[in-house]
Amino acid sequence: MNLIEIMRNRRSIRKYTEEAVSEEKLQQILQAGLLAPTSRGKRPWEFYVVKDKEMLEKLSKAKQHGAALIAGCDAAIAVFADSDLSDAWIEDSSIALAYMDLMASSLGVGSCWVQMRMRKDENDADAEKNVQRIMGLQEPFRMVGILALGMPAEEKEPYELDELKWEKVHR
Ligand SMILES: Cc1cc2nc3c(=O)[nH]c(=O)nc-3n(C[C@H](O)[C@H](O)[C@H](O)COP(=O)(O)O)c2cc1C
Repeated sequence: MNLIEIMRNRRSIRKYTEEAVSEEKLQQILQAGLLAPTSRGKRPWEFYVVKDKEMLEKLSKAKQHGAALIAGCDAAIAVFADSDLSDAWIEDSSIALAYMDLMASSLGVGSCWVQMRMRKDENDADAEKNVQRIMGLQEPFRMVGILALGMPAEEKEPYELDELKWEKVHR
């Protein structure tokens, strides 16, 4: 598949089978993150692979809405960034997340980006702080997002190129 086909096919997959994501695929997904460009080549990100069920369960409750799917995934990549190392840590980490998301899709691995920064849990506590606590990390390591991974148990239609929102493009 060429890149545009991979991009058309990339969809957020939130339901996963019991099958594990192979170590080889996981490695390729991480490779994609490590290949991502960063401002001034600082590479402020740190990728934490979580496979422990108990920890995945805890992460799934770190915010009130939209994180429950983590409990059912096979592995999660929690992307943190050293906010002292670069002022572009959010951009750098987001690009890495997007690269890993695309790589997952190209390998037939279901993936979904879960936002934690700027989100709250059911008690109105800060989701990012919750994740830092669960993972045993603190400032300057900031949580950018979590990529949930698993073999897909749902299918979604690819995007159609002739339905793209060209009105967003201004010349
Ligand atoms: C920055 C960002 C944060 C997101 N956060 C969540 C989230 O917390 N939970 C979730 O289920 N999906 C999340 N998503 C996935 C989006 O909901 C999804 O990309 C969007 O609805 C478009 O669907 P698609 O990915 O299938 O094209 C996030 C996506 C991005 C890019």
